[in-house]
Amino acid sequence: MLLAVENLQTHLHLKRGVLRAVDGISLEVDEGETLGLVGESGSGKTLTGLSLLRLLPMGSGRIVGGSVKLDGQELTTLSEREMARDIRGRRIAMIMQDPMTSLNPVFSIGDQVGNPLRNHDIARGAALRSSVVDVLTRVRIPSPDKRLGDYPHQFSGGQRQRVVAAMAIGCTPRLLVADEPTTALDVTIQVQIISLLRQIQADTGAGIILITHDLGVAASLCRRIAVMYAGQIVETGPVRRIYRAPAHPYTQALLAAIPRLGEKRTRLQAIPGQPPSLIDPPGGCRFAERCPVRMDKCAEAPPTIDLADGHSAACWKLA
Ligand SMILES: Nc1ncnc2c1ncn2[C@@H]1O[C@H](COP(=O)(O)OP(=O)(O)O)[C@@H](O)[C@H]1O
Ligand SMILES: [Mg+2]
Repeated sequence: MLLAVENLQTHLHLKRGVLRAVDGISLEVDEGETLGLVGESGSGKTLTGLSLLRLLPMGSGRIVGGSVKLDGQELTTLSEREMARDIRGRRIAMIMQDPMTSLNPVFSIGDQVGNPLRNHDIARGAALRSSVVDVLTRVRIPSPDKRLGDYPHQFSGGQRQRVVAAMAIGCTPRLLVADEPTTALDVTIQVQIISLLRQIQADTGAGIILITHDLGVAASLCRRIAVMYAGQIVETGPVRRIYRAPAHPYTQALLAAIPRLGEKRTRLQAIPGQPPSLIDPPGGCRFAERCPVRMDKCAEAPPTIDLADGHSAACWKLA
């Protein structure tokens, strides 16, 4: 097992209270596997990814429980220095949700892609330059040797996303967390980025956690997905099984909200209601308030029920 996360809990200490952004998440990723982490905006996907790198909002964010093991090594108890030197950007890298926040407008692309390689002592001098050209070639930036001195604004949106991917894969991480890597892009570029992620994985054997609210993107890249709702995983399993027969009412509603090919947009039905606040969330099932098949029992936290083929869901209906 490449990555094993068990009962991870991450809190944000805000003025208005303690926000339980990640509330007891367990997941596993094998070498060479892509796990999809899906769910609506605000469900805690990004903070789950950031927790793995221990890159939480300064001051407010804290991992308060659980375990994160990479190749068997516990990460939650490492010192900040060990995280920076051995793990972050080296063995786990993240492609951030918005490429412009990862790129510094005043440094050249060559500098920025070279940075992780320099910081982790992977290459210097002439070797550094050729490594940067090599990694930019791998993400298919045309004529990369001529573009090292260019700045982020001189690249198109799709190219900037490729440059951000180049920064992440330069040190050949064991695990790549890709946070909504296709969201801001038009469909043609989305397809290119998806094939780029596939290629990176084939080249390096990295495990990937693909964070997305787009179930179509998840289906095209992942064999397994985990569905998040309000800081928790409500269903996990093989993507084909879940798409054919979603077990949790939230997953069912999420899938019903996807427009099928050729279907009129008017049939697109968002799930009525809002997710609960993660400051003092309800004690029982967090989806209960919006759930069409809610029962009295749902006031208690539901058990996670194993179905088959590694498919499981947390719902009283299945108990
Ligand atoms: N820096 C922050 N300060 C305050 N609240 C935050 C911050 N980042 C995230 N949150 C809150 O934490 C919860 C989880 O957010 P996030 O992990 O970004 O969700 P997702 O990626 O699924 O959209 C949300 O309620 C969000 O509003
Ligand atoms: Mg996010």
